[in-house]
Amino acid sequence: MAERKIRWGLLGAGVILNRWMQGALQVDDMEICAVSSRTERSARAMAEKWNIPQVMTFEEMLDCGDIDVVYVPVPHDAHKELAIRAMNAGKHVLVEKPAAVCAEDFRQMSECARSNGVFLMEACWTYFFPAIGFVQRCLEEGTIGEVRALNCAFSFRVPDEYEGRLTRPENAGGGLLDVGVYDLHMAQIVYGRDPVSIRGTASVNTDHLHLMVDEQAAFIAQYDRGELAVMSSGIRTDMLDTAFIYGTEGYITVPRFWSPDRVQVTREGETAEYSFPVEQKVQGLKDEGYQYEIRHVNACIRKGLTQSPVVTHARTLSVLSQCDSLRKDWHLV
Ligand SMILES: NC(=O)c1ccc[n+]([C@@H]2O[C@H](COP(=O)([O-])OP(=O)(O)OC[C@H]3O[C@@H](n4cnc5c(N)ncnc54)[C@H](OP(=O)(O)O)[C@@H]3O)[C@@H](O)[C@H]2O)c1
Repeated sequence: MAERKIRWGLLGAGVILNRWMQGALQVDDMEICAVSSRTERSARAMAEKWNIPQVMTFEEMLDCGDIDVVYVPVPHDAHKELAIRAMNAGKHVLVEKPAAVCAEDFRQMSECARSNGVFLMEACWTYFFPAIGFVQRCLEEGTIGEVRALNCAFSFRVPDEYEGRLTRPENAGGGLLDVGVYDLHMAQIVYGRDPVSIRGTASVNTDHLHLMVDEQAAFIAQYDRGELAVMSSGIRTDMLDTAFIYGTEGYITVPRFWSPDRVQVTREGETAEYSFPVEQKVQGLKDEGYQYEIRHVNACIRKGLTQSPVVTHARTLSVLSQCDSLRKDWHLV
């Protein structure tokens, strides 16, 4: 008899959910059972758009024995409460990045997963791209010698008229928690261990919008053999999001490093380019690469794991601890 599919419940009805759905619909081993939002109207619109069979309140979703895993793509400050309620109801959870607004909150979430015997993962989809797998193999095989430095930035410009979570301190807005976490996870991918120190500078309330969040920031992590990761994040400046990984015998370039589909390797003045297009099994959909993360979650749930062996709780905790330290220095907490 065929194994039954993993059954998902979705929360919220925002920007990311519409992007994520394009990946979810490419995955065979899943069934999307229901969507829930604070406003029934937006959940209904989401259900209609994506052909999701049921609209539920969050409480109904938690009580629903047909749902195995809940996806939590809501503003950062709501992650912890919703994830903990879902896990206490026996649901597995995929929670958007950053998994929580500080390391202590994620510690409690991790403990909740452990005590309920359910799976919990931060949705840091970057780890699961074939292009990132290729980069990791190059680093392991010493293709560019010993890695000495990583340089990456993730920063975009919200328009002056934008009103939403990114510019609100009460939603833990600002660049570091929204996109700087991708830089910090990239450093985890490249070095595979925690830095010995991290320091940075942020610009807060520097223009006529008077934003009390990190509008832009630069930060440098140092590792135990002197390696560096030089990183930037922001919500008011568009920056080139290419990662450069420098070794003693060459360098690797990863355009759009947070969701890459190509990689360049340069050695002895010669550059080779490798391409990893995202497979689109369903006509009319344009998945940016969410299918890789979703397949990983389904596989972990099938194995009965409480955490991913890739985006481990330790990795998420490390990234959030670095954010805590930077945000404390910037007087944002
Ligand atoms: N992985 C990625 O590529 C990616 C990309 C973008 C964003 N994200 C992450 O996804 C999360 C959501 O981002 P977004 O841009 O989609 O946000 P968004 O559009 O501002 O909000 C998403 C939805 O969350 C619901 N919501 C808002 N406040 C809530 C609260 N306090 N409690 C419960 N639900 C609430 C809203 O629906 P209702 O008002 O109807 O409840 C809203 O439609 C963020 O943490 C972000 O970092 C990830």
